[in-house]
Amino acid sequence: NHKKTLEGKTVLITAGPTYEALDPVRFIGNHSSGKMGFSLAEEASKRGAKVILISGPTSQVMNDKNVDVHKITSAKEMLTKVFEFYDTIDIGIASAAVADYAPKEVAKEKIKKNDDSLTIELIKNPDILKTMGEKKTHQFLVGFALETQNEEENAKGKLEKKNLDMIVLNSLRDEGAGFKNDTNKIKIFTKTEKKEFELKSKDDVAKDILNFVESQILK
Ligand code: C5P
Repeated sequence: NHKKTLEGKTVLITAGPTYEALDPVRFIGNHSSGKMGFSLAEEASKRGAKVILISGPTSQVMNDKNVDVHKITSAKEMLTKVFEFYDTIDIGIASAAVADYAPKEVAKEKIKKNDDSLTIELIKNPDILKTMGEKKTHQFLVGFALETQNEEENAKGKLEKKNLDMIVLNSLRDEGAGFKNDTNKIKIFTKTEKKEFELKSKDDVAKDILNFVESQILK
């Protein structure tokens, strides 16, 4: 698909995990590969969009020189970077697996293993996508939901709560879906619609997602 169906549109995509520092050498993170976000960025760029990709630490390589890649580490850095561009974007897609909590304090020196137990206080991170939803003026916002129970209900709840236009649900119960895999199986919800897709490569899932976005913004 090389039809320039997103010509003139600016798309911002968040991708990958965030790392929340504990001390100079350690962090709290997660296994997100960043693959879904990179696939979305490449596909949106092929379709003629101006693409801004804001990614946490990942081993993904961006092959498309037209994609504007910004590497960040923590959730707070991701939030700041997103809002450098937020006013200029038409479409925002949040595929990042943002850490929900970060250590309250970052130790200046490496934490020593002196005691038999260690307690670390965690403070809730900003919800980047929810903040985008609160500040929405014209942007079309897409979120992801990775659920293990009451999945449809929870996904639709997030659509409402974060003021989104569309949410992509992937179930951890589906073999080959989500997170570390190269494949994904999704359902898409808007306030009024629901569409289910087969298990596919993340490159093909990116096409389905962008086709659906286009069907929404061009109607
Ligand atoms: O609430 P939950 O984490 O399940 O929501 C998932 C969606 O919200 C994803 O699109 C994710 O990228 C986004 N999110 C975010 N900032 C957070 C947590 C989640 O942008 N702190």
